[in-house]
Amino acid sequence: MRKKVSIVGAGNVGATTAHWLASKGLADVVLVDVIEGIPQGKALDLQEALPVEGVDVRVLGANDYSPTAGSDIVVITAGFPRKPGMSRDDLLKANAEIVGDATRNAVKLSPNAILIIVTNPLDAMCEVARRTSGFPRERVLGMAGVLDSARFCTFIAEELNVSVDNVHAFVLGGHGDQMVPLPRYSTVAGVPITELLDEATIERLVKRTANGGAEIVNLLKAGSAYYAPARSIAEMVDAILNDRHKVLPCAVYLQGEYGLRDLFIGVPAKLGAGGLEKVIQIKLTADEQAALAKSADAVKALVDALPQPAAAG
Ligand code: NAI
Ligand code: 2OP
Repeated sequence: MRKKVSIVGAGNVGATTAHWLASKGLADVVLVDVIEGIPQGKALDLQEALPVEGVDVRVLGANDYSPTAGSDIVVITAGFPRKPGMSRDDLLKANAEIVGDATRNAVKLSPNAILIIVTNPLDAMCEVARRTSGFPRERVLGMAGVLDSARFCTFIAEELNVSVDNVHAFVLGGHGDQMVPLPRYSTVAGVPITELLDEATIERLVKRTANGGAEIVNLLKAGSAYYAPARSIAEMVDAILNDRHKVLPCAVYLQGEYGLRDLFIGVPAKLGAGGLEKVIQIKLTADEQAALAKSADAVKALVDALPQPAAAG
């Protein structure tokens, strides 16, 4: 039987994710949204593209959760995106309610699903989903690190005029202005960029990465990034559905790793069929550890400000 991935929120990120998943033939896809006609229309349009692509998966849109029953993965993108001048954190309360609601509805019908949270502010929304679902940490993951690392890769490849294929970049921490790009662990054909670029250039690329979301918001003016976010979600889905044991930077509920406990934050995580298989610990310098602690403080402040969601039932 084909795997099923449900995506709550059929807006820019949700619909583009459906596009990637369907075109790669990864799973049947269900799009759920509160706006009547939008998930149905986008799903049908996408379904009609698949004969051209030569792919046999089903894409369905709905305003209720019944078609999501028995999903292997539920991706939550429902919520408001950031507008110019608005921080991710401004979104906290409004999106906590939406993510709590989406989680409660989804897990009732898919009690064994793996949740991938995307809605911002990301790390705090992961906590909402964890509390609401009652799922173990292996099955509640946040997508941000794949995107942030892809942005860092893009800027490194451009700066050095090399193929993106040669570049591996690492970004740790919360998905906010305090994220922690790690130049020492970011490489071109295995060579750390600290050997290839001067400090001022690296600092410029690091700042641009931390500002990557805002850069797109300022250009689009009416919404935030979705092509790269959606492709990043598809990478996590692929790692899980195909049991790849792939190490990807994801928001994970830490239990003492990196000196942090009971908090979602971006770290390298090995993903396979059961979701999180292992948090990969890498050695950090005192400065890097301090930057991660600062990022964790920013996430904790948001989590402390969350309204208490009702438990699943
Ligand atoms: P969008 O506005 O295009 O789509 C959001 C969709 O959610 C809308 O179609 C809306 O009708 C729907 N929605 C609202 N309440 C709902 C509910 N209760 N149930 C079902 N659907 C509901 O926004 P976009 O661009 O797709 O972004 C979605 C979220 O993802 C935002 O919070 C954004 O900040 C976040 N995001 C996070 C990224 C990350 O790296 N973690 C990257 C990009 C976006
Ligand atoms: C981004 O980084 C808005 O969080 C989203 O593009």
